[in-house]
Amino acid sequence: MGGANFFVLVLFALINIFGAVTNAETHYHQFTVGAMPVTRLCRTHNIITVNGQFPGPTITVRNGDSLVVRVLNQAQYNVTIHWHGIRQMRTPWADGPEYVTQCPIQPGATYTYRFKIENQEGTLWWHAHSRWLRATVYGALIILPKSGSSFPFSKPVLDLPIMLGEWWNRNVLDVMRQALITGAAPNVSDAYTINGQPGDFYRCSRQGTFKVSVTPGETVLLRVINAALNQELFFTVANHRLTVVGNDAAYNKPFTTNVIMVGPGQTTNVLLTADQRPGRYYMAARAYQSAQNAGFDNTTTTAILEYRNSQTGSSSRPVLPILPRFNDTATVTAFTRQMRGNPAFGKVPTSVDENLFFTVGLGFFNCTPGPRCQGPNNTRFAASMNNVSFVLPRSTSLLQAYYNNIPGVFTTDFPPIPPVQFDYTGNVSRALWQPRRGTKLYRLRFGSSVQVVLQDTSIGGIEDHPIHLHGYHFFVVGQGFGNFNPRTDTAKFNLVDPPVRNTINVPTGGWSVIRFIADNPGVWLMHCHIDSHLTWGLAMAFVVENGEGKSQSVEPPPADLPPC
Ligand code: C2O
Repeated sequence: MGGANFFVLVLFALINIFGAVTNAETHYHQFTVGAMPVTRLCRTHNIITVNGQFPGPTITVRNGDSLVVRVLNQAQYNVTIHWHGIRQMRTPWADGPEYVTQCPIQPGATYTYRFKIENQEGTLWWHAHSRWLRATVYGALIILPKSGSSFPFSKPVLDLPIMLGEWWNRNVLDVMRQALITGAAPNVSDAYTINGQPGDFYRCSRQGTFKVSVTPGETVLLRVINAALNQELFFTVANHRLTVVGNDAAYNKPFTTNVIMVGPGQTTNVLLTADQRPGRYYMAARAYQSAQNAGFDNTTTTAILEYRNSQTGSSSRPVLPILPRFNDTATVTAFTRQMRGNPAFGKVPTSVDENLFFTVGLGFFNCTPGPRCQGPNNTRFAASMNNVSFVLPRSTSLLQAYYNNIPGVFTTDFPPIPPVQFDYTGNVSRALWQPRRGTKLYRLRFGSSVQVVLQDTSIGGIEDHPIHLHGYHFFVVGQGFGNFNPRTDTAKFNLVDPPVRNTINVPTGGWSVIRFIADNPGVWLMHCHIDSHLTWGLAMAFVVENGEGKSQSVEPPPADLPPC
């Protein structure tokens, strides 16, 4: 080989190496959290937002990119930001739940979140993880395929986040505080929103109604995100079929449906083709309320899908969709049963090292009748997993306590199975209604294969719970109604193409089974993404140890980690 040829070869090799390296980008963002007056439902009040935007800014990255987000807190409240669904491999300090992986960012202070997106594609989102601030502090986090690769479907003409939210006419922190004082259920919201707007059914909001313009024949990608605080929602578009192509940050085997159900924390990507008579059509969302006899916001939020140059004109009344009844569990089940993961995603663990069984549900603390005992029959509402009603530490975060070996902050005796076994979805004796408070973690060996059965209980009534696990995504290998039966139900698990998610609905009066490999050291919260349930204690945390023989169990914290 001549010298010149060799030189050309080396040059090619270098270009290839640098090409591969520079393909991944680092994106820098500044998030300024602060108060802003906003008018909805004919009233103006101050809400907390990021960069004066509601919903907050959309972050768009590619799989493999890194994010650096400097958060400056100019609000009068403590705050943290959580990157919902990001795995945070080896960056547990950037996860964000307050008193779990960090202490809050105090007014006037800053904290910079640094993390990489690895092997995730689809729709995630970010939100405050500090009391109920996420009601208004949220935005979309879109992960596109790596440059040079593409969606597993033809590229849509439009790619839009559809963020479903919940709006209160009051300061949400006051709504939360009131519930915590009285022990009763919190006030329900005054409206739902699509991209921050209640929509056409509200006198003062019609001007702001979110609109999507399409040309006949075009296909658009709608990234539906349920950012509502306390409500599972149905979403549909009049006369149009929706093709579901992704959940959370993973693709699924596409299927079509008229309606989707999205639990708080979940995202569903749907393709919609403008194949109907040119005109105007409502997109709408309203409650899926599985708990009986519980108050809920019974309103409908709308946006408009409008065809360009249609004869009907921009003032014509859009076509109304048919939405399922609020308690239509059959529709939810039919929808979730169609969900199949993409086997290309990776292998489902077939053996299990840790076989865990967690009950999820409400409970009641007995209480001396008075203003602080306004729950049912003079109690205070509670919630628990395996009868432990989770309490956050106040003086430090769990991850700091773990890293620095601070005693007395948590214990690692979270029960792997319910302390008392009973007919979970049957008639539960009153003696089992009262959980115990605790800050209990469950230790997982690095690399172990984990299965968790999440079992709803009928204490306080059966109800669907969207359970979210931080720092991981998991395979959903099975779901069903009644009590999970290991003998008969295990045989029916889907180990071939289970969906991959970070938030899974535990069906009302039923169970879901998830599997994952504990490959990410840190302290990771698992909780119901209905904030009222989280506030009552429907949470636990895993501590995953570092198995690589490093002296420290997790990476050292960044220098600017907020002080406790
Ligand atoms: Cu989307 Cu712990 O939260």
